[in-house]
Amino acid sequence: MPISLDCRAGLGELPQGLLESLRRADEILVLTGAGVSAESGIATFREALTGLWARFDPARLATADAFIEDPVRVWSWYEWRRAQALAAEPNPAHRALAAWGRRQQRLHLVTQNVDDLHERAGSHAVIHLHGSLHAPRCFECARPLASPPVPAAGDRLVAPPRCPACGGLARPGVVWFGESLPEEALASAWALAERCDLCLVVGTSGLVQPAASLPAVARQQGATLVRIDPQPAADFNGDWQLLGAAGVILPALLERL
Ligand code: OAD
Repeated sequence: MPISLDCRAGLGELPQGLLESLRRADEILVLTGAGVSAESGIATFREALTGLWARFDPARLATADAFIEDPVRVWSWYEWRRAQALAAEPNPAHRALAAWGRRQQRLHLVTQNVDDLHERAGSHAVIHLHGSLHAPRCFECARPLASPPVPAAGDRLVAPPRCPACGGLARPGVVWFGESLPEEALASAWALAERCDLCLVVGTSGLVQPAASLPAVARQQGATLVRIDPQPAADFNGDWQLLGAAGVILPALLERL
């Protein structure tokens, strides 16, 4: 049975078993989701009222068909999100993970996020399962393209630039619904899940496959599974659930290691 600790008012005294697992870990897989960037002011997806999918229809914005139907609408929406991500700053959760990575060489960061806040906090070799807002490519020939200048705040609709090689339209470098994940990223993440001895899951609802299976793979082969999120997950099948904000819990955890 998982043990849940209410950390919303701070970390308090932590069970020795948890501290031991964190200290002993030799190879750590950290899987992050939108919640890790929430304290930087970037909206999550599924939270009621504030989540992006509560306000926008993914079928009209996050599929190849939507792009074919209206490239300007789709491109503009991602440009709006790119501008937000660039204006945001890494928060204490990003910074704690980067600091932990400096201490522990074998800490691997796998993120579902398309922002670059882990990198800007100082983490290296971050595996982006769902692509990046900062790596557009040609919709026709897949050639990587340079990001255009960030649109001015008032520019709500911007046309995607064209590929200099084939004239195709630029598309955001993110994974849309119905598309496969980048093969290399997924293979690396899977291999890490199969060999880590600690898997830390931070700020994700765990509803999107295949990323959602990584913690289960890690747990099955014997890794300790720790989840950090303000919302308890009823079906959490791990060891420890720390309930609270990642930007509070992660720095405090690191201090105690
Ligand atoms: P969700 O919006 O589904 O889940 C965000 C999670 O973050 C929730 O469990 C929140 O409780 C939690 N959260 C909120 N604030 C937090 C905080 N301060 N600290 C820690 N946790 C916090 O986002 P994801 O699980 O990342 O895919 O969504 C997965 C994928 O679904 C996304 O990558 C995106 C989306 O469709 C694509 O775009 C392909």
